[in-house]
Amino acid sequence: MRLAYPDSYVVLGEWRVSPSAGTFRDVMSRFPTGVVVVTTRVADDDFAMSASSFTSVSLDPLLVLICVQQDTGFHNAITSAGDWAVNVLPEDGGEHADWFAHNGRPMPKGTDQVHRSESSNLLYVTDAVAHLECRTQQIHQAGDHDIVIGEVLDAHVASEDMPLVYWKSRYHEGLTQTDPFPPQAATRAPE
Ligand SMILES: Cc1cc2nc3c(=O)[nH]c(=O)nc-3n(C[C@H](O)[C@H](O)[C@H](O)COP(=O)(O)O)c2cc1C
Repeated sequence: MRLAYPDSYVVLGEWRVSPSAGTFRDVMSRFPTGVVVVTTRVADDDFAMSASSFTSVSLDPLLVLICVQQDTGFHNAITSAGDWAVNVLPEDGGEHADWFAHNGRPMPKGTDQVHRSESSNLLYVTDAVAHLECRTQQIHQAGDHDIVIGEVLDAHVASEDMPLVYWKSRYHEGLTQTDPFPPQAATRAPE
């Protein structure tokens, strides 16, 4: 028998009580992420969603993923659309992140905040520091979210500005830079 404390979880033989959703959220909020706006298009309608679950998956082939809550309008859109774009927000992109996280907000058409990719016709956030264009390759149900895996069809860096960082449920501007590896190792391709 093992008792774990504080009251995050308890293990008693084979019997185990899961951590609460609040504890889980608290822990996950300590893991900093960037924020992307994912855009997609169904028929002639544009859809967008702010997301922090964006992750690189594979180099061969080039794959990325996002996790999309099933109970959202964006879930319906991305699971019926084939193609989607990922916009990595810049450090002053908190307002964009909020805007694209609100159900029912109109897409800012006809403004300089977004424009269309010439190759795909998907909406790009104009200030984004980088863009990807992806085609859905797999969708996996995972609890109350779907993991949407996309093959990367196009990729480009738009600016060297710092990205927006999401940490402890708040946006953070300004990163202190240090080299993670000795210089010769820093150029090595990820494994
Ligand atoms: C910083 C931030 C990160 C988010 N990350 C995700 C995410 O990874 N997956 C997700 O499903 N929703 C995420 N959300 C919530 C969605 O943006 C929001 O629920 C969604 O836009 C509502 O979708 P709907 O308006 O299409 O119904 C995030 C919101 C914010 C502000």
